[in-house]
Amino acid sequence: MTYPEFPDSENFTTIGDILNGAVDGKSISVRGWIYRTRSSGKLSFVVLRDSTGIIQSIVSSDSVSESSFTASKKALVESSVLVTGIPIKDERAPGGWELKASNFEVLHYADTFPITKDQSDEHLLNNRHLWLRSRDMVSCLKIRSTIFQAFRNYWISLGYSEVQSPSFTTSACEGGSTLFNVSYDDQNEKSGQKFYAHLSQSWQLYAEATMFGLEKIFTVAPSFRAEKSRTRRHLTEFWHAEVEAAWTHNHQMMELEEGMITTILNEVLSNNLSELEHLGRDVSLLQNVKGPFEKMKYSDVIDELNSLGFDLSWGDDFGYKEEKALTSSRTQPLFITHFPKEKGFYHRPDPADPKSLVCHDLLAPEGYGEIIGGGERIWSPEELDTRIREEGMEPSSYGWYMDLRKYGSVPHSGFGLGLDRLTSWICGAEHIKNVIPFPRTMRRTNP
Ligand code: 4AD
Ligand code: MG
Repeated sequence: MTYPEFPDSENFTTIGDILNGAVDGKSISVRGWIYRTRSSGKLSFVVLRDSTGIIQSIVSSDSVSESSFTASKKALVESSVLVTGIPIKDERAPGGWELKASNFEVLHYADTFPITKDQSDEHLLNNRHLWLRSRDMVSCLKIRSTIFQAFRNYWISLGYSEVQSPSFTTSACEGGSTLFNVSYDDQNEKSGQKFYAHLSQSWQLYAEATMFGLEKIFTVAPSFRAEKSRTRRHLTEFWHAEVEAAWTHNHQMMELEEGMITTILNEVLSNNLSELEHLGRDVSLLQNVKGPFEKMKYSDVIDELNSLGFDLSWGDDFGYKEEKALTSSRTQPLFITHFPKEKGFYHRPDPADPKSLVCHDLLAPEGYGEIIGGGERIWSPEELDTRIREEGMEPSSYGWYMDLRKYGSVPHSGFGLGLDRLTSWICGAEHIKNVIPFPRTMRRTNP
């Protein structure tokens, strides 16, 4: 391929700027890709796309050179192009504007694009590297980007520091059933010793150590779970936004989370209205989300679920079915507190009712369910030792974690937010796979 002379960025206008009316009546150039194309006689109608929108360009054999016209007729969908012309307001055109071309140049002629209309989910997943160009994906990924940035900004504005923890670890944070094991055996040829590690399910245990220095911290990182469940909300590699703070009780952390969720929603509503509209999201539902969020104890949730036809008793875990039933008719997020002790070895048992924990989940409304799991951590060494044994685990394999309670232990709380799940709810997505560029599940690690 020979590269044509490539003009500087400042000579180009984005399609978004044309649609906003910023360049009304001037001759401008756009660069992008062909989104749709058809021609009839002396006219080509080429819809162009860039990351900011789509616009139809009209290429007439009367107004452009012969080579421009031939190129506009020949180029297939996804060819990369440089088009110069005058934007003209036209209410009938998609987006309200059309570009009357004076020059049409093809930078690269695309082969026949393997994605056409109405393809199966499987085909789109197999061609994810190409499907990422779709307006659906671009809309979700723009919203996702706002969410990640708003999460960071919120905690930074409260004086929190961003810190990283390792992905290779040997202490399970969220139980053995979803651990991915990794072999380290090639690393230690001399000793012949084999090393094993897991991929991290959560930064929490490391966060509790780091917190003693920095006090208020957060991270944004992938977490890994060998999830057997094939639901609309499970990935094997997901993006985990986690927070940990010293001198903080469970109810205080819940209040901060409420502020975080409403701040993130406001950011998306002020930056991504057109993307939400493209996705067909009912924006009023997001606009109406307001604190304080409803709070229910686990035992009351069991009663509500049983009144909806479930048959649950104390100690039973909620899965997607239960959470869907609980949240389908709700329009506000719901906090569930006082889960049974078995939910986590590290949560602090409630002194007033030690069979339950000082912890919480936050469930998104509209049938989405859990997006946050968090709570207050045990800070007494004796209590932690008891809980680790009660859960059938070996305190010695949590040596360094136990150590943290020996040197100036303090009350502290934290949580983990599933960013893909939050994005899924905000986008109104049918499946969590729709809101991450390259989804990983038990059956997919490619592309
Ligand atoms: O509720 P989880 O398991 O809590 C923890 O990992 C705590 N150690 C976090 C903490 O206190 N620092 O996971 C937290 C959140 C869930 O609420 C969910 O949103 C998300 O992580 N999550 C997943 N998201 C997508 N796919 C999966 N397989 C997920 N597993 C958990
Ligand atoms: Mg959870």
